[in-house]
Amino acid sequence: MSKITVNIPQHQYEIVTGKNILKSLPAYLNSGFKTNRLFFIIDSKMYKRNTSKVDQVLTSTGNRSVKMLLTATEKNKTYESLIKIHRRMIKSGCGRDCIVVAIGGGITGDVTGFAAATYMRGVRYVQVPTTLLAMVDSSVGGKTGINLDTTKNIIGAFHQPQRVFCDLEFLHTLDKTELICGMGEVAKYAFLTNEKFYDYVYHNFDKILKLNNSILNRVVSESVNFKRNVVEKDEKESGLRKILNLGHTFAHAIESVLNHKIKHGQAVVAGIAMALYLSGELGILNGDKAFKYFRLLEKFKPYINFPELNTNKMYNVMKHDKKNRQNEIRFVLFNDFGNLLLDVKAGKAQVMLAVKKGLEFFA
Ligand code: GLY
Repeated sequence: MSKITVNIPQHQYEIVTGKNILKSLPAYLNSGFKTNRLFFIIDSKMYKRNTSKVDQVLTSTGNRSVKMLLTATEKNKTYESLIKIHRRMIKSGCGRDCIVVAIGGGITGDVTGFAAATYMRGVRYVQVPTTLLAMVDSSVGGKTGINLDTTKNIIGAFHQPQRVFCDLEFLHTLDKTELICGMGEVAKYAFLTNEKFYDYVYHNFDKILKLNNSILNRVVSESVNFKRNVVEKDEKESGLRKILNLGHTFAHAIESVLNHKIKHGQAVVAGIAMALYLSGELGILNGDKAFKYFRLLEKFKPYINFPELNTNKMYNVMKHDKKNRQNEIRFVLFNDFGNLLLDVKAGKAQVMLAVKKGLEFFA
């Protein structure tokens, strides 16, 4: 088991990672909080695969627990879902002292966190990420939110959890696509961290997909540790935290235009390729290592198939990205491992060329 502490102003919390960590959740909930309601929001697909494991938590926390299942899709990451959750919380007698617990992937965590952030002006919540993507990225750092129309995560709040439980056993119940999606965010950390971690992820890619536990543990811990350091320095994304959006401006637009026919993590990988191409066009990328940068992305090729994509629509969606400033699209671009440039502007022709090259890379 490993513990990482996140220290941000007026709030400190732990991220606990290990096999069967979920077993320690009831004791934590039973001893840590004075409350008459524990409100669990549980990803329905994950619940089907792990029913007895999750039910054990509900049983061990007694009749204070309320269970609500969520169909965790991007299309359900909406105000409608939020209203349903809030109505159920009111009906269940959740007061200001209630604890909300998210058990599921990134969508479950984002919606649950936002439901907690907005219920009675903010109640406490605990994250139990069950996918690789949620463990390495979305459950850490307090970003919560929902989508509106074509814009991803446009409505949301920063609301930090009380604790994060990363139980690596859940990863054994994921399908290949879900693992690949997690690897998309891991690839992001490989670029952001340093060449050593990049090489580690590259050389162990297949072992990670085969769920080698000690390698998984290291990959999750290093990614979380990197993110912790960033979030501690810039919780609300006024500067440094933007680096975590490498590839995401492209990715969110791809997801939106394809109506979520490909998943977030897959879109992130394509988005990173596009960000690398754009970095090359703008003379930012260190050309001597260009071959090496794409090696990790090559590993994803068998798992990413793009349906036809309207790139003009994609550009229009990017124009509404929440990271834009003065009505201009701003990109996170890449010079070398651990060396990123923030808020870079680019002309439409250059952006479209990067999109085209990125799509060709995965064709
Ligand atoms: N997923 C990017 C961030 O948490 O800032």
